Parts: sequence; C-alpha cells; structure tokens
Amino acid sequence: MACRETVRSAGVPNTEHTFSAENVQTYCCYDPERDFRRCLREHRNAVPARWTRAEAELIRITDENAAPVIRGPLPQTSELVGVWDSWPIITRDASVAVLDFGWRVLIALTSPKTVLPGARHSIAKWGYFISKDGVSWEYQGDVFREGEALGARQWAGSTMVDDEGRVHFFYTASGRAGSPCHACDTPACCEQRIAYTSAELVVDAAGVRFEDFSEHQIILEPDGVLYQTLEQAEVCGGIVYAFRDPQWWKDPATGCEYLIFEGNVAGPCTDIDCGPGVPIEARMYTGNIGLALRENNSFTDWRLLPALLEATCTNQQTERPHIVVREGRYYLFTISHLFTYAPGLVPGPGPDGLYGFVSDSLRGEYVPLNQSGLVIANPPQNQFQAYSWLVLPDFTVTSFVDFYNLGGIPVTMIDAMPAAVQFNAWGGVEAPTLQLELTSRSTTRIIRELEFGLITTAQTESPQCILQRDETRRSGFCDNRPSTIC
Ligand code: FRU
Repeated sequence: MACRETVRSAGVPNTEHTFSAENVQTYCCYDPERDFRRCLREHRNAVPARWTRAEAELIRITDENAAPVIRGPLPQTSELVGVWDSWPIITRDASVAVLDFGWRVLIALTSPKTVLPGARHSIAKWGYFISKDGVSWEYQGDVFREGEALGARQWAGSTMVDDEGRVHFFYTASGRAGSPCHACDTPACCEQRIAYTSAELVVDAAGVRFEDFSEHQIILEPDGVLYQTLEQAEVCGGIVYAFRDPQWWKDPATGCEYLIFEGNVAGPCTDIDCGPGVPIEARMYTGNIGLALRENNSFTDWRLLPALLEATCTNQQTERPHIVVREGRYYLFTISHLFTYAPGLVPGPGPDGLYGFVSDSLRGEYVPLNQSGLVIANPPQNQFQAYSWLVLPDFTVTSFVDFYNLGGIPVTMIDAMPAAVQFNAWGGVEAPTLQLELTSRSTTRIIRELEFGLITTAQTESPQCILQRDETRRSGFCDNRPSTIC
C-alpha cells in the first residue's frame, strides 16, 4: 500500500512526495516506547555537522536573500501587548492545525505595550491569538494561568495538538520564579530549562480555550556532556548561553518524535582552540542545534542526543531551530543575530537573519544553503527591522517587526533613549510573511512578500495515517509491521 500525499502550499507550485508502504507503516504505527531503541539506533556514533567560519565568511546580502524594507503604518497584532517570537499550533506531523470552525491559533511571546522593548525578555509570557483567515488575529490573553508556568518568564517553544484534542506545550522556563534576576545581562541571571504542560483544547464558534492543564514539569536540562550547563558557561561569560526554544518535530521517514532546541557545545570555552589566526575570544562562541528523542508514551521523558549542528568559533546563538522536510530532504533552519557572530570574520559578521542547512537524512551531512547558510537577511537599509523567522512547511516564513524605525540611532544605543523614542522604534507586531522558493537542492530566494502576520494552512510532506487509530488497530495494519521495524 503506497501513500501519495499532495503538499498544499500558499502561492508556490504543489510538490508531491510518495511514501513506500514500509515507510507509511513505520510512521503511522510508531509507538514511542516500543520504538525507542529503533529510533535511538539512528543516532549511534552521531557526530554534529559544523557551520564553519569559512562558510560564514561567504555570507553576502543579495537580491535573493534581502527582505523588502518594512515601512509603517504597521497593522497592530494586538492593542494591548507587543509580540515577538511566534508560532502556530501544529498537528503531530508539524502541519499548521486548522481546528473546528476553521480556527487557526498563533502563540507568541508577549509583554504589555507599556513595557520598554528592551525589558520585554525579562517578563515574557505566552499569549495567544485566533483567526479564521490566518491574517486578522484576535488576542485571547495568556496561555498559562497566573503563577502556574515554570521559570521567572517563559520563552519560545512550540505547541502541538494531538488527534485526541490534547494540546502539548513545550516551552523555555527562563530563570526561576521569585529569583532576584530581572534580566539576562549576566549568564547567571539566565538559567534556561525546557518545560512541558498539556491541556484540553476547547473549540467552539466563539473561539478556542485551553482547559484542564496538567502540572507543569521540567523535561530537559543541559547535561554538561552534550550540552553546556550554566556553570560551564560562566567560566568564560560573554553572550548569554542557551538551552531553549524546544520545537516539536516528527520525522516523516521514521515516525520518531523529537524536540529540536538551541544549545551550546558542552564544556568551558577554555577547552576550545579555534585555530591559528583566529582571535582567542572566538572560542566563546559555541552555538549548537540540539536534539532529544521521546522515550515513551508520556511527553515528559526525553533522551538527549548529540547535536545536529555546531557553530563553534562561528556563532554563539542558533536560535529557534526547526526542520522542514521538502522532497524528502531535511532543511534545518535557525535564526541568528549580527552581534552573536564570533570576532575576526572577514568581511564581517553576518546579518540578523534566517539561516539554513540541507541534508538527505536527519543525520546526514548538512550543507549550508546558499553556501554560507544565509537564507533571509534584513535589508542593509534597515538592519534590525525583523527577527525570529519561522519557516512553515510550504516555505512561507513568518517573523515579527523588531527595531524597524531607528531613525539613525545605533541599535546598541536604543535602550538609553527616552521611552517615547524606544516605543517609536520598535514594532512588536507580526511582520509581513515572506514566500521562499528553492532554486536548487541547496539554494533559495525570496519570491514574494505576503500580508503582515499571514499564517497559511501549510501541510507537511509526511505519510497520511488515514485510518482512525482504533480502526487501524482493528484492521491489523500495525500488527503486520516487518519485524525489522518492530
Ligand atoms: C529569539 C529569542 C529566543 C528566546 C526569546 C526570548 O528572539 O532570543 O531564543 O526564546 O527570544 O525573548
């Protein structure tokens, strides 16, 4: 039984991908507990791919990767809160979820509009928005009930709704509730742990609500062997370290379920030698893209695996990493800032932008897209206009409007300006969605600017498990799996 899936996309030609009978069965009959060893096997002796300084030195801003300049007036995503990192609720296969009554849900980091843009990271909360057209978003308030979420603040993550209507929230618990730290100015104030809760999704004509929350739990912490701990980060200090931004992801080839996250290479930076001619401080730049495998039927037990990619000596932050599978290939995306590039790169650091890498399999050899990795850059005329790009399965890309109206003030000085100047400079709204296109296996270009805040109904390229689960069981579909798979 082969399964043909048409990928629905917004504005780009549909692509089709055919899955073998074995692939469909492996994927649809995946059982996290029983298949744990099978999934783990793929990562035995895995070595992270590398994003090298030589590749980063190939970064150039071109017509293909420069985003159009964002100009006001900006449509307000909310009158009450500013928004930055955001993501739609996705289904288990990471397609955009379209709920009953046609609701789409967008979750975002939020802070009240009265809070200065630079202070927002210290008090971030998850808020949510609903829409039927994917463009006009209605703010619904906080996702989590007051006092229940872990951390002093909640940073980025992802949200998946399963077939039974339970919503799973994976988030970054940053700091500790009640701790005296109010900012991430020093590594010590910026402890990050990955947390989880779930809730029942209640959908009706009036909107979407989350009820019956499970207890919030920490599900992943850095181990100091694969991922850097806070203590190890403190040996060298420098730019804030990372163990954050968990992204739910199911591999269409194997069915195995993962969290992809942002980390740093384990150990103190004093263990690192970036090679001759490279400034010694470059060793403080150790961003990596982490991976954890689901261990059993609960959503709280995960096994840390070797990183997918390391940017040692190149960049300290590989934020909000995520994978989109296209034509069977694995496109690994991340976002990064100009200020997080290691020193000494020629001709200079890369821009605030979206970066990507492609491989033929999850553990294959990741090659930087467009040779350098750069996929979308802020335009040179407006270097900080947007950030936090997220690629949806149809290669539309969302982001938020950042410091788009600096009026000549250096971004490093903006925090020292009068409040009115700061508010005027920052967007805090969803940015225009961009449409990316693959021009070859490993090259991309921006082909279109779409509406502010558009979330398409993008569906992933993955086997469709058409039969309901009970029916599937009764039909024996999953019992006949080849023994090599079971
Ligand atoms: C990216 C980011 C995320 C983090 C959040 C904190 O914009 O740095 O990595 O979760 O912002 O506000």
